[in-house]
Amino acid sequence: MSNLQTAAQSSPLSDELDELMSGLNETPKRVSPKYFYDERGSQLFESICEQPEYYPTRTELKIMRTHIDEISSAVGTRVALIEYGSGASVKTRLLLEHLKDPAAYIPIDISGEFLASVARQLRSEFSELEILPVAADFTRKVRLPNPKIEPTRRVIYFPGSTIGNFSPDEARSLLGKMRAEAGDDGGLLIGADLVKSKAVLEAAYNDTAGVTAQFNLNLLEHLNALFDADFAPANFRHKAVYDDEHSRIEMRLISLKDQRITVADDEISIQAGEYLVTEHSHKFTLESFAKMAGSAGFEIQQTWTDPDELFSVQYFVAA
Ligand code: AVI
Repeated sequence: MSNLQTAAQSSPLSDELDELMSGLNETPKRVSPKYFYDERGSQLFESICEQPEYYPTRTELKIMRTHIDEISSAVGTRVALIEYGSGASVKTRLLLEHLKDPAAYIPIDISGEFLASVARQLRSEFSELEILPVAADFTRKVRLPNPKIEPTRRVIYFPGSTIGNFSPDEARSLLGKMRAEAGDDGGLLIGADLVKSKAVLEAAYNDTAGVTAQFNLNLLEHLNALFDADFAPANFRHKAVYDDEHSRIEMRLISLKDQRITVADDEISIQAGEYLVTEHSHKFTLESFAKMAGSAGFEIQQTWTDPDELFSVQYFVAA
């Protein structure tokens, strides 16, 4: 094997290709939801959040608006708020506006460029607040910066029910990492989507305007660009199905015909009716979520929901 081949085989993209190929060889075939988020995918996600059937975003914001004083009191005074994600949301601003003398705001996001522009914007809006962006993958070990003002505690903020996109094992390990980062005096403010009727859930992920379908199909275009693949989105159909047994939405791309697809130097075959699973979105009960967070060393302090109990915002402290 030449040095060049060795170098190529250990590059990040070749690791990603190995991971992609192994998912495509599973039954059912699987592709990681991280491939949703190229530029178009991120725009489509924003548009999903505005669809009438997609209740999570507006319900979480409504809960935050209704209970912001209580939420801010629970989180406490002079905290370092560490957000897992970019901090570009209205919810983040609402929280920052209502926190009492926050010591610092530390957003962690994989996209350094996006993070820098969000930080610039927030600095102009919150001139008193120290903003310390960290460009990193928050599922990995992150070295957190020390704010100038000594915080009373670290509070992790993870909105949007993004925790539901991890498998239960991954979610537990991510919560364990948060627990370690927050420390024994720390807290966790997290959004978690709740179990509800299959009809409401499936409508949320199969919106009538077809935006979620475009979002799902766009993943194939992203794979084509990254891995020199030749998926034809027109040969697939989007469908999201609620799986009662696992309390999760499964996003699928169903093949409309027998086809062979080239991915880099490999080829895979997909039969008509066979599907790729592109995402799981787990739904929780207040009990199931508290149990999962409990296994990671958190105990529930306070929970806020909307009157229809569609969504929850929960504050945990170290057990
Ligand atoms: C980002 N995440 C919480 C969304 C969800 O609801 O699981 C992603 C999404 N997939 C389809 N629609 C929205």
